[in-house]
Amino acid sequence: MTVTLVPALPTLPVPARPDPLGVLGVPGEINLDHAASAPCARAAADAVAELLPWYASVHRGAGALSRRCTLAYERARQAVGDFLGARPTDHVIFTRNTTDAVNLLARALPAGTTVVTFGGEHHANLLPWPRGSVRLPVPDSPAGAVRSLDAALGELARDARPGLPVLVAVTGASNVTGECWPAAELARVAHRYGARILVDAAQLAPHAPVDVTASDLDYVALSGHKLYAPFGAGVLVGRADWLDAAPPYLPGGGATAHVGAATHDVRWTTGPARHEGGTPNLLGAVALAAVGAALDAADRAALHAEEQALLARLRTGLAALPDVVELRAFGPDAPRVGIVSFVVAGRDSAEVAAHLARRRIGVRDGLFCAHPLTRRLLTEAAARSGRTDLPPTALRASIGLGTTAGEVDALLTALATLPG
Ligand SMILES: Cc1ncc(COP(=O)(O)O)c(C=O)c1O
Repeated sequence: MTVTLVPALPTLPVPARPDPLGVLGVPGEINLDHAASAPCARAAADAVAELLPWYASVHRGAGALSRRCTLAYERARQAVGDFLGARPTDHVIFTRNTTDAVNLLARALPAGTTVVTFGGEHHANLLPWPRGSVRLPVPDSPAGAVRSLDAALGELARDARPGLPVLVAVTGASNVTGECWPAAELARVAHRYGARILVDAAQLAPHAPVDVTASDLDYVALSGHKLYAPFGAGVLVGRADWLDAAPPYLPGGGATAHVGAATHDVRWTTGPARHEGGTPNLLGAVALAAVGAALDAADRAALHAEEQALLARLRTGLAALPDVVELRAFGPDAPRVGIVSFVVAGRDSAEVAAHLARRRIGVRDGLFCAHPLTRRLLTEAAARSGRTDLPPTALRASIGLGTTAGEVDALLTALATLPG
């Protein structure tokens, strides 16, 4: 029997599906400033582009476009809640950013609440809190933070008026040093004393999973623009009771259940809408949800390993430069995300940043909206290094999705060849 061989069909090239966590950028521009605002992930850009033709009102129209937008907004709320491991009873409230989310919670505190923070916080988690808040000194280790909180809450429990609420407000990862704070342990301590905890996850969420339920957190705040989802949304996720009892954060359309003719004849709605008065930021919410879903679908352990390898390359390279001194609050090996602040002894940090910008490398300089912490770390860095010529402000390089070893090396080379 003769067998006729059927020629194999040529394999057609399968168009590569772009990585949803690939980031947009401009060739040649090296962005090592993710901690300020991260680049836009393709997932966010695609979700927004897909929705744009349908763009219409949210919760304000009966037409097909509006109904689709309303659905997209509420689905985004659900998706962001899922991404953050929210409990079914939690509220997921869209805000403008982390600052807005923390201010919202500050306005929702029951009367007499004492807020306990650490001096290592970003201004967004220092300034919104009421007078009488307790600010604990910056600890020298994650374990030190746990001990210090335990002692402070013990003291408060003895001295303060019993029954009045206490909120602990801490960062998940420092925007200055990248050092991670032990959020779950701090939550355990807080709960032992009947206090609640807010975690400012602005810098943690872009680098590591944040899970409200698993870590037993009461509230989490974060910003879309630091999580590869520009378009201006942030979120506050957390327990409903204080939020439903508080005056609306943005009194206005959408926040009401009933408005009568008399000036004070208003019944505010409960739920997230109570604090989202006015037309919501649909595109921001959808972008944030899309990035959350893409991160959930990704191999987070692999992403973490990649980032840590780049971070190690960066820190090792910086340590090899004779005039560079790193800022840190904890020990050199404490867990941290892809953020490093440093100074070049004898050099003005703004001038170094300007030099890097001329080499098309973007970093940040200054005190990073965490003035108490950065000033303190600069003083400690001078003592540790024995250098008397450290500048009064610092530089910060921060990495994330899309950062390459070549970009890290370009920064190191530029720092090694600063003009005289
Ligand atoms: C730790 C931390 N918290 C809060 C904020 C405030 O974020 P936003 O400016 O998006 O409100 C930042 C911004 O840098 C931050 O790094």
